Amino acid sequence: MTRSIRPLVAGNWKMNGLKADLAIAAEVAKGYDSTLKAAVDLAICPPATLLYLATAALVGSRIATGGQDCATHDSGAFTGDLSAQMLADAGAIFAIVGHSERRTLHGESNATVKAKAEAAQKALLVPIVCVGETKDERQAGKALSVVKKQLRGSVPDGSTAATLVVAYEPVWAIGTGLTPTADDVAEIHAAIRAELARLLGKPAASGVRLLYGGSVKPSNAADLMNVAHVDGALVGGASLKAEDFLAIARACG
Ligand code: 13P
Repeated sequence: MTRSIRPLVAGNWKMNGLKADLAIAAEVAKGYDSTLKAAVDLAICPPATLLYLATAALVGSRIATGGQDCATHDSGAFTGDLSAQMLADAGAIFAIVGHSERRTLHGESNATVKAKAEAAQKALLVPIVCVGETKDERQAGKALSVVKKQLRGSVPDGSTAATLVVAYEPVWAIGTGLTPTADDVAEIHAAIRAELARLLGKPAASGVRLLYGGSVKPSNAADLMNVAHVDGALVGGASLKAEDFLAIARACG
């Protein structure tokens, strides 16, 4: 953790969740007690169909909601896409952009991710910009250079600690039960902070929340969250179980 930074634990529900699953959000809100509230911010990023309902269900809980993607454009003939303004209108505070599933399955380039992050900021959403290397890239010793290149290409100019969150999600750790060692996470997160300082200047970069994502569970959360420059988690599978999500949040406290 970075002592001066208030941690954030965000749940990415991915393409999971029907109305009945809002009970998970309600249970998380119930468990977000005063001790946790004093220690950590929480966010839930449900599928877009549930965004408005989830926001309504979480009113008064101090738990934010977020979208999982946004369009690069404000409005227009883009069938099936959702603008950042629409997400904000539905109550979102955050928008995940550049998740590896979108980079891979939807062919999103760094330039596209940057345009999405800029669109999010324009709508006063905070983009959670995701970066991370594949297994082949790590085995080839390229993890650091890949992540730095993604950052240079994806982070909007002029971002500040208040307008940007970065998530390091090694692709090979997502949904696999595998996690990098604490030393590997420390190396990448320190490099992300340093690269952000080059891009945004040190004062802005020193306050940006750097989340770790990829197979975060209650059993490994404390070890991962204790690493320097890890300021929270982006949680996939475990965010679909209120008790697990809360246990991960407690590991940040
Ligand atoms: P898992 O926690 O299921 O590995 O997913 C991580 C992730 O992709 C969060 O965005």
